[in-house]
Amino acid sequence: MRFGVLGTGTVGQTIGTRLVDLGHEVTMGSRHAGNEKAVAWATAAGGRARAGTMTDAAVFGEIVVNATYGMGSLEALEAAGAANLAGKVLVDISNALDFSAGFPPAILNSSTDSLGERIQRAFPDARVVKTLNTINADVMVNPGLIPGGHSVFLSGNDPAAKQTVSELLRSFGWTDEDVIDLGDITTARGPEMYVALWVRLLGTFGTHFNIRVVKGA
Ligand SMILES: NC(=O)c1ccc[n+]([C@@H]2O[C@H](COP(=O)([O-])OP(=O)(O)OC[C@H]3O[C@@H](n4cnc5c(N)ncnc54)[C@H](OP(=O)(O)O)[C@@H]3O)[C@@H](O)[C@H]2O)c1
Repeated sequence: MRFGVLGTGTVGQTIGTRLVDLGHEVTMGSRHAGNEKAVAWATAAGGRARAGTMTDAAVFGEIVVNATYGMGSLEALEAAGAANLAGKVLVDISNALDFSAGFPPAILNSSTDSLGERIQRAFPDARVVKTLNTINADVMVNPGLIPGGHSVFLSGNDPAAKQTVSELLRSFGWTDEDVIDLGDITTARGPEMYVALWVRLLGTFGTHFNIRVVKGA
């Protein structure tokens, strides 16, 4: 398939490389054409990888991945263009973290809204699925880095879009048992607020980790 990956950071590069390795074609989007990180990534990733603007990536992708800095995600998606996102699955991995005062970042979410919802409201014709925002980039595309089953969440209003994203997650190595469909896009509030704990666990462990949700009989 053709993917547009918005974002040139660790997540964009890690997801982009995994998609290319799986045989997909990827255009990585940046705010500026010729972004050094995007061009270097595309050169290293090979013939199925290209670098472009946010618009280029959104036009190219049959599926679009939002891997941009959360404080700038709406701006990045506006640059990508609502018309270029309409009808497409938009995999939203972003977190509304504010690093302006250093680490740990402020987490600008609440129990009454989420970045996933703000994106869905701003782009009503996109089929937003929030996922993977609770997981380190390396583990997103290679869950086997952590032994045993562990959990990844899905939130979104469109069941078919969530099915598409589940299949994508399976291609990354996640199992059906790992994938927990929380419900509509309002359920993104929980995984986004969990990130407050995630950044502290990162400080404690300093290595790969994830949570596993265990339910009773
Ligand atoms: N790092 C992880 O392991 C991890 C795990 C889970 C979730 N996340 C989330 O995934 C997203 C990407 O994280 P990351 O660490 O890969 O990279 P990042 O540094 O958070 O984001 C880099 C991307 O955001 C764009 N960007 C930065 N400021 C912007 C602004 N004001 N307006 C529009 N776009 C802007 C950059 O554009 P240019 O290309 O033009 O510079 C770049 O493409 C974030 O929302 C993060 O919270 C990260």
